[in-house]
Amino acid sequence: MIFDTHAHYDDEAFDDDREQLLERMRNRGVEYIVNVGASMASCKSTIGLIRRFPYVYGALGVHPDEVAELTDDDYNWLAKSVYKPKIVAVGEIGLDYHWNDNREQQIAAFERQMDIAREAELPIIIHSRDAAKDTYDVMKSNKADEIGGVIHCFSYTKEMAKQFLDMGFYLGIGGVVTFKNGKKLKEVVKCTPIERIVLETDAPYLTPEPNRGKRNASHYLKYVAQEIAQLKGMTAKEVIDVTTKNAKEMYRI
Ligand code: NI
Repeated sequence: MIFDTHAHYDDEAFDDDREQLLERMRNRGVEYIVNVGASMASCKSTIGLIRRFPYVYGALGVHPDEVAELTDDDYNWLAKSVYKPKIVAVGEIGLDYHWNDNREQQIAAFERQMDIAREAELPIIIHSRDAAKDTYDVMKSNKADEIGGVIHCFSYTKEMAKQFLDMGFYLGIGGVVTFKNGKKLKEVVKCTPIERIVLETDAPYLTPEPNRGKRNASHYLKYVAQEIAQLKGMTAKEVIDVTTKNAKEMYRI
């Protein structure tokens, strides 16, 4: 059974059919889903979702695009709420220099949320875009190797992949690996031991081929598993079995 380590079912793209869709996931080969917070609002919706569906777990954290307005009250709420049942990680947190240039603010929020994870003994889910070196350096100086977790939607080179793997992190692999222009990621997957890969949709985004462009959902991870299987000379079932085991170990489910 598939483990989707990163989805956003609180997104408005699911407003019309969220309940029906999630109720059918078990019959479509999906065992667990982790719904990942990205803003204060989505953290609160995540808590609602994990109460309604036994196989949906949650991560709480604020995405680098959303940290500008964070208050001390927000941090206090996060530090307290990560102890709720079925919260299995802090995330998504990290650095994104693609759209925003508030670098110092992003780094401060990243470090503060890493501290929350360390205190609660939870792994972290890292979002990093156009910020490979700073992400690595901030993780290194904050001893992220003692916290552990996943580099979500890994988008850097195989050389960078090795550095994050050496720090003990997993790589989150999703729809991009099925894209024709996903060559760099295919190389990363070939070089990464299957024991260090977890599957993720980032639903509703990044839908794998052959459904690219449509709304993503956890059962489409079978296409991601097929692609990884081909790259690594395994069967799709083997890829699903190993990555699900990895995800359970990472999130301690
Ligand atoms: Ni995400």
